[in-house]
Amino acid sequence: MALLIHNASEILTMKDGLGVIKNGSIMIDKGIIKDVAHMKSDQKKFQTIDATGCVVCPGFVDSHTHLVFAGTREDEFAMRIRGVTYEKIGEMGGGIMSTVMKTRAATEEELYTLAQKRIEALVRHGTTTVEIKSGYGLSPAEELKMLRIIKQLREHTDIDIIPTYLVHTIPFQMKRRDYIDVVIEEIIPKVAQQGLALFCDIFCDKTAFTRSESRKILLRAQEYNFKLKIHADELTYSGGARLAAQLKCVSADHLIYTTKSAIEAMNEAGVIPTLLPGTSFFLRIKKKPNIKAFKETGSAIAIASDFNPGTCMIYSMPKIIALACIVYGMDIDDALLGATKNGAQALDMAQHTGTIEPGKQADVVILDIDNYKKISYQFGEDIVKYTIKKGKVLYGKDSRMYS
Ligand code: NIG
Ligand code: FE
Repeated sequence: MALLIHNASEILTMKDGLGVIKNGSIMIDKGIIKDVAHMKSDQKKFQTIDATGCVVCPGFVDSHTHLVFAGTREDEFAMRIRGVTYEKIGEMGGGIMSTVMKTRAATEEELYTLAQKRIEALVRHGTTTVEIKSGYGLSPAEELKMLRIIKQLREHTDIDIIPTYLVHTIPFQMKRRDYIDVVIEEIIPKVAQQGLALFCDIFCDKTAFTRSESRKILLRAQEYNFKLKIHADELTYSGGARLAAQLKCVSADHLIYTTKSAIEAMNEAGVIPTLLPGTSFFLRIKKKPNIKAFKETGSAIAIASDFNPGTCMIYSMPKIIALACIVYGMDIDDALLGATKNGAQALDMAQHTGTIEPGKQADVVILDIDNYKKISYQFGEDIVKYTIKKGKVLYGKDSRMYS
């Protein structure tokens, strides 16, 4: 049966800014949005959700996560609170490598179960499209293992999952040149042959790959038709954003140290800047991305969670939206667009999701707030009432609303 979400206090269509429609309705059939704004008189033909007093917006698009991993790193977190830096912890054998060890030691079943539970939690917080990266394997067998798990999650989950092969760092006991050869000669071709990823991403930063190494690896990925992403300028100015512009990456992510001229170069090349405010918050990084410069270029800014066990354990996109405002000083409108429409662009999914308009997938969340500004203001509350993916109710808090 068709589904009607009616009487919403505000529908955020995300067309021309937030595209707010007051007291609106959304008609959904066969998983697709058919109509927005008009009330249907014969409600008997529909299953209905009464959205009185609620904000309805596109399902959140989390375009950057590392959600397949084993183990947690609360000891490192405690050390950071005492002032030890993320880089120092990495040099001491912690950081990414500690998660690599635990992830290698876990079976595929264990990793699958952990990730599946995390996806269920994401759905309860309104995410309907998520990108998931590998990167805690660091050998051909272990990276392929991670990507197979992401493939299984994709096949058995209702939300859209976009898989990314992340070239994350150089494993201990290997020379950088040797590992880069393994990535180029073995891992990238195998991931491509087995159809395990749509994107290739690289951590271009002082603790991982240099700009020229990143360039070499991403060019190889391009030969195999991967779309490209870069972790750029997170801990230092790495030149990653400039490289993203040169290679016309779909997105460049983090961008804390990115200069104004690199921001302009990215904009000219059509790269979607993706900001990860949860990571700045969690790592207590004082330096902020140059939001003013991003805004001046008119770029579509995406925001995402970066959910991972080291630098951001926050997976709730409403919380990430609030942090974009509170920590980065972004406008609420820009943060909401970043978590929906622009996030979809960062995954090359904009033709399917990220806005509420006829013809798009019915990926919708219903929020227990009567105007959208409360999404950041009521930071401490879990405000998601319903998560709907392709017209299917995946999560609903208040069954009285649904008949
Ligand atoms: O996006 N920067 C590199 N990768 C992750 C952190 C991964 C980790 O510490 O486990 C990030 O912040
Ligand atoms: Fe990341």
